Order: sequence, then C-alpha cells, then structure tokens
Amino acid sequence: MKAIAVLPGTPDSVHLAELEKPSVTDVPADRGVLIRVLKVGVDATDREINDAQYGSAPEGYDFLVIGHECFGIVEEVGSAVKKVQPGDYVTCTVRRPGGSIFDRIGRSDITSEEEYYERGINLRHGFLTEYFVDDEEFVVRMPQGLKHLHVLAEPMSCAAKAVEQAFLAQQRLQVWEPKRAWVTGAGQIGLLATLVLRLKGIEVWTMARGPREGNLKAEIAEGYGSTYVSNADVTLHELAEKHGKPDLIIEATGHSGIAFECMEVLGHNGCIVWTSITGGERAVNVPSDSVNLNWVLGNKMLLGSVNANFRHFESGIADMALGEVSWPGVTEKILTNPVDGLENYAEMMRLLVEDRDALKVYVNVADE
Ligand code: BGC
Ligand code: ZN
Repeated sequence: MKAIAVLPGTPDSVHLAELEKPSVTDVPADRGVLIRVLKVGVDATDREINDAQYGSAPEGYDFLVIGHECFGIVEEVGSAVKKVQPGDYVTCTVRRPGGSIFDRIGRSDITSEEEYYERGINLRHGFLTEYFVDDEEFVVRMPQGLKHLHVLAEPMSCAAKAVEQAFLAQQRLQVWEPKRAWVTGAGQIGLLATLVLRLKGIEVWTMARGPREGNLKAEIAEGYGSTYVSNADVTLHELAEKHGKPDLIIEATGHSGIAFECMEVLGHNGCIVWTSITGGERAVNVPSDSVNLNWVLGNKMLLGSVNANFRHFESGIADMALGEVSWPGVTEKILTNPVDGLENYAEMMRLLVEDRDALKVYVNVADE
C-alpha cells in the first residue's frame, strides 16, 4: 500500500513509501475499524514537518507517514464496534493516549505528558495512505450531508475546542458575556473559529496579512458576517483604539510575535486562546511592565489550546452543519487548491516541497 512519508529530521524529505495494508484485527478486543481513505488535508503543520521543524517516526521506522486531516469510508469493522458500520463516512481524531490520568479518561488532547502521540505528526503514522485502521474510540462519523466539507472536520475540531476552552475558563468570572471577539489569522483554524463565534452571535473581527480586496479569506470571513481587517493597513493597537478592546482573542496566525502583541490589546476580564504551534526560534520584544500591570489589574486570562478529542469533533461537526444553514456555501470555500487523483501523489509532493504558500491543499487518495 502506498503512503506519503517524510524522514523526520531531514528537510524536504517527503517521498512515496510502502506500508503493509492494515487489518481490523490489528486493534485488540474486536474494536478495529478499517477505513479506506478518500481525502486527506495538508496544512502548514505538514509543511513544517517536511521542513524538519518537528515530528518523529514511530518506533521501528525511520520514516513518518504524514497526513492528520482525514476523511474516508468504513470498509470493515470488528465485531464489538457499535459506533460506525461499513459504508459510513468518517473522520478520525489525531492524538493517541499516553499514560497520564487525562489520557486514561479519554482526554489525550490535554495530556500532561511532554511526549505526545499524534497520527501523522509525532510517533504515529498518519492518514496519507490508502487504508488505515483505528480503534472505534477515535473514529468520528461524518453526516452524509456534510461530506462536501470532508477534511475540514479536523481543523474544525481544533477551532471548536479553542472556543469551548475559553468559555470553560471564563466561568471563573461568574458572568461572562463576550460581545467583541478578534480572530488573528485567517487560515483554516482562524476562519473556522470565526464561524463558531459568529454562530454565538458575537461581533467578530478576523485579521490577517492579506489585503481585503480580491482575497478569498476576507470573502469567507465576511461571508460569516465577520469584519475582515488587513494588518497591512491597520495594526492591532489602531483597531483597539478605534473599535474598542476585544473580550476574546483566538490567536491562530502561527506567528509568536502577534501572539504576544495580542496581550497588549485585550480588554479587561478578557481571554486569549493561543492555538498555533510555532516551530521556529523567534524571540519578541514585549513591553513587559505594562503588560504585567494591565493583566493583573484587568484579571486577564491566557490559555493554550491544541488538538481535540472526539467530543470537540462532534461539536465542530454540529457547528459546520449550523454554518451550512446560516451561511450556505461559505465553509466549502476554505477547501482551496484541490488536487485530484491517486496519480497526483507527485503533484502533492511538489506542492509541499516547492509551493511554500500552499496552505490548504487536499488530496483525493481515491474516488468516492
Ligand atoms: C493539528 C492538531 C495537532 C497540532 C499539533 C495541528 O496541525 O491540527 O491536531 O494537535 O497540529 O501537532
Ligand atoms: Zn492541522
């Protein structure tokens, strides 16, 4: 069976690899689900893994099969499987449990262990293969009517979790009714977080580097009823001065400088959620005295949020369905640059290696 893999630690090593076809019996207790891969999303994480910024191979391998945003169809299930059946469209969570208490209660997304296991990212092979098998615990059913949004389920789960975590954390305030939210970054997490917040009726500003005119990201953000702001024209400080400081910031730029700058403009009792993995070595200059003072006097909250468990997938999928009802046709625009067909492994590798800006491509590994 073909797979797309990298040699962790070696930049630009993406290549075609061979893996043995898995079987439902690979999972103990008859809980295995065999999935034929239909589509796999490729995002900045894959690019950074191919840049050798992070990522490790599973034990016993020198390569790591990449791909963590999957969509497929169930072909076979073990006799104990209840959640899905052959013919169901499914996606799959990314994180796999380690040994901490959180891992043992089904919350590997908040494991307290430093080592983490993620399919296609760290120590576990990913989904850029023809088939994969997993425990039904990690398999999430996709409704028929959402199959056109396929690989967005995974980034959506991260966006849904980020917003959920903010609301959970803000229960510390007893009353929190955020009116104004900023989303920094208009990649898939930023745009999908925009969707989640707009569904809650919050006024949202979505910010990114690109100009507003002729920009698909701006069109998508505004399609959800958010206001798109190009940071080339307006700084975070200017925006705060003009329209007021936000109650909530979902930071999804992948740029640690902006993540810290957000700390200078958050409103009192506000919350920032950092969602980006930043693989670089950048350092920033922060006006630390005023941030420190302001954060103490303003009761502010900063939290990191990454990955998601099956509950976040389910709430994210439900929000995608609501999004289709409120703003039909907007979410699918996030799926740009489709690459079709098995023969296009080579094309995908070209995109990964050469087109550094190909932020969202997806690969039809097989046809539906
Ligand atoms: C994935 C997450 C993952 C994170 C860190 C993101 O691209 O969507 O599921 O936890 O990378 O590896
Ligand atoms: Zn990702």
